[in-house]
Amino acid sequence: LKAAVIIPAAGFGTRMKLDHPKQFHKLAGAPILVHTLRAFIDHPAIEEIVVVVPRDQLAHTRELFAQYAPEAANKNLSLVAGGARRQDSVYNGLKALSDRCRVVLVHDGARPLVSPEVINRCYQGAVEHGAAIAAVPVKDTLKMADLDGFIDKTVDRTTLYQAQTPQAAMKTLLQQAYEHNGDRDVTDEASLLENASIPVQLVEGAETNFKITRPEDLVVAQRLLSEQHI
Ligand code: C5P
Repeated sequence: LKAAVIIPAAGFGTRMKLDHPKQFHKLAGAPILVHTLRAFIDHPAIEEIVVVVPRDQLAHTRELFAQYAPEAANKNLSLVAGGARRQDSVYNGLKALSDRCRVVLVHDGARPLVSPEVINRCYQGAVEHGAAIAAVPVKDTLKMADLDGFIDKTVDRTTLYQAQTPQAAMKTLLQQAYEHNGDRDVTDEASLLENASIPVQLVEGAETNFKITRPEDLVVAQRLLSEQHI
């Protein structure tokens, strides 16, 4: 089945303390968002790519892609303006998709280290089960706090996972989930699907598929991206 990817990159990255949105920060020779884009340009199942950026960055992003990823011209690539919340940005992307693709992947612009294997697992999971997201088991012991900041109890971590992206679903299911949720706040697409009682499979993500969030993440990402291109 043909697949499309929506790459939300319309956040302001305030936790990063940079003077520009983090997705435009250059690492290993190209902006973070370009590294993310390349992971999908190179992938054979992906027929269509929609990148969502802040409205005032549309022209700048177009220039960056022409400069750093001219190969994108061979895929169906479009740029759309984001919304106030991540879920609004993804919805703008969803509305911009053509009718060609039946599977939709959503992948954070700030996760440039996604591997072809992780993309494949999400795609296959969506084709077989309707929806699938990349996730990794929780490594640390988890504590629930009381209101005074003392430990209330230890939470059993054996069934707990950290959600990553890609988050993939049959397009009709994702559209149905958006309609079901109305304006409810969520932080990922899987939440929309869960709220609509649509089953979502967890597939194996990767520790290297982290979201660049804090300044120290830049150091690790720089190192790993440089090695990728050797
Ligand atoms: O803020 P957070 O790191 O969770 O954002 C995850 C992804 O969603 C980032 O790539 C960010 O640029 C994007 N985003 C968006 N529109 C927003 C907020 C975040 O596209 N309004």
